[in-house]
Amino acid sequence: MRTTTAILLLLILLMVLLRACVDGYRPVIIVHGIFDGPKQFQTLALFINETHPGTEVTVVDLYKHMSSLKPLWKQVQNFHRAIEPIMEKARDGVHLLCFSQGGLICRALLSTTPNHNIHNFIALSSPLAGQYGDTDYLQQVFPGCVKDMIFLVCYNRVGQRVSICQYWNDPHHRPSYLKNNKFLPVLNGDTPHDKIKSWRENFLHIKKLVLIGGPDDGVITPWQSSHFGFYNSKERVVEMRNQEFYRNDTFGLKTLSARGDLSLCLCSGVKHMHWHSNFTVFTNCIEKWLT
Ligand SMILES: *[C@@H]1O[C@H](CO)[C@@H](O)[C@H](O)[C@H]1NC(C)=O
Ligand SMILES: *[C@@H]1O[C@H](CO)[C@@H](O)[C@H](O)[C@H]1NC(C)=O
Ligand SMILES: *[C@@H]1O[C@H](CO)[C@@H](O)[C@H](O)[C@H]1NC(C)=O
Repeated sequence: MRTTTAILLLLILLMVLLRACVDGYRPVIIVHGIFDGPKQFQTLALFINETHPGTEVTVVDLYKHMSSLKPLWKQVQNFHRAIEPIMEKARDGVHLLCFSQGGLICRALLSTTPNHNIHNFIALSSPLAGQYGDTDYLQQVFPGCVKDMIFLVCYNRVGQRVSICQYWNDPHHRPSYLKNNKFLPVLNGDTPHDKIKSWRENFLHIKKLVLIGGPDDGVITPWQSSHFGFYNSKERVVEMRNQEFYRNDTFGLKTLSARGDLSLCLCSGVKHMHWHSNFTVFTNCIEKWLT
């Protein structure tokens, strides 16, 4: 008789626990892009609250506006510090949704954090394979400079103190990019280093990688960089699957794809500053990954 009661109690306890798991949505952490901050993500937070009521949404309040130009490895360190307590509290893990430059910060954070509990990583229009284009953003940072000159400014120690320079990927100056860019080629394993293997393992702790972008973005150049494609030396776009870092599985992309955990979402008609406030984008590409 006593065992039956014990089993019954255990079953009830299990059911309560299970309910708590099924009912709750994982916390969502949002990392903003260049020149913006938490304010620009209020609409997105509302979308999440409307579709998944009760979700704890945090837009990390760091490196806003002009501060977003600070060196990326330093930013990665401090974003990590801000995110850590949220991860620790969430037994079931969290989701990470990162916009534009923020996507690179998150990518780096995932690779350099052992045993993180980030479940799904959503990169919303991020220059994941680099940036090479004349845009308003470039003019704000380096007025009067055109894309073919930027390597002179960026690929040296002083230039590397500006975030944009750390993912500036000039296809006509590959050796200089590999030698002098201290962020992107290191992160993507294009320049060899002894942490590549452990960084790949760390990155592969995510459950899903979701890449969102589209041809009307107007800022990310080429726009395929949001899907890990990039220019070759003739400025023709080589898609992700033909990139060397994919073929060599340098940081885990090919493994994710083989595991069935890579999702690409392509949306037309979306300008760069509209990605996070477009409800169609949210329903088609984001909502289902935030459970
Ligand atoms: C989320 O939605 C509920 C209503 O469903 C509302 O009461 C609450 O204030 C909203 N929270 C935020 C942060 O918008
Ligand atoms: C990919 O692998 C080839 C052959 O092992 C090697 O020569 C090349 O440097 C690697 N490239 C990257 C980006 O890992
Ligand atoms: C929102 O996204 C849809 C689907 O990609 C697109 O057709 C539409 O133009 C977008 N609207 C805005 C204002 O970005």
